[in-house]
Amino acid sequence: MFGSVVRFIKRWLPGRDEVRHPGRFARQSVAMLRREYQGKPLEEAHVDPEPILQFEAWFEEATRVIRDDPNAMILSTVDEQDGPSARTVLLKGFSEEGFIFYTNYDSRKGHQIRGNPRVALTFHWPDLMRQVCIEGVAGKTSAEQSDTYFQSRPAGSRISAVASPQSRVVASRRELEDRARDLEEKYRDLDDIPRPDHWGGYLVRPERIEFWQGRVNRLHDRICYTRKPQGGWEFRRLAP
Ligand SMILES: Cc1cc2nc3c(=O)[nH]c(=O)nc-3n(C[C@H](O)[C@H](O)[C@H](O)COP(=O)(O)O)c2cc1C
Repeated sequence: MFGSVVRFIKRWLPGRDEVRHPGRFARQSVAMLRREYQGKPLEEAHVDPEPILQFEAWFEEATRVIRDDPNAMILSTVDEQDGPSARTVLLKGFSEEGFIFYTNYDSRKGHQIRGNPRVALTFHWPDLMRQVCIEGVAGKTSAEQSDTYFQSRPAGSRISAVASPQSRVVASRRELEDRARDLEEKYRDLDDIPRPDHWGGYLVRPERIEFWQGRVNRLHDRICYTRKPQGGWEFRRLAP
């Protein structure tokens, strides 16, 4: 009896190693992170035949349920050797035409898109147990559209976009802050900050859109839309 009480206490007290290296405890327990998914069913009979309308319905729900950044998505690109890379960007618009984000065209992702415009976008909305995976082709938005969005951003964000040579090595944070301060002095009238040519939007025209809904016992729902060569979309259920 006494032995089992001691064993019980020892199990829950951190060991000496765990106190000295708290990260090691996380390393050992990562496989234990597990939850049951019990999302709403995603059924062929109830999805919209138009994937953008299906996305709109899910996105609208995400904006109500996800507290921060429901529009955050992972943008995946490939380089000239087909090496993949991925990072988060914010969705800033969508329509039947596709999905829009804004960035620096001279960034690492910008160079990769220039070399190969095929990209993937991934949304993960944990509170809804949902994922949306989009594959398509990225092209620059019009200069007018980029101007309109750029001018809608807060002054500080516009200054930073001009000041930051995104993805390049910089000597120090100080260098960036000095550059931003110089620009603030140059553009005393903040309405005059012009959009640099190397900053603007991309529209990703989708070819494939997959909706994933977490379900009980990992028997999830996946509905995948593909664009038909003659126009329009077809959808199929995929095994989880
Ligand atoms: C929540 C979040 C939102 C972001 N949104 C954008 C964005 O809309 N545009 C952008 O260029 N970078 C955004 N970033 C920064 C990118 O993830 C990335 O660091 C940057 O674009 C440089 O990527 P690259 O060097 O691969 O080109 C965001 C990062 C996070 C974490």
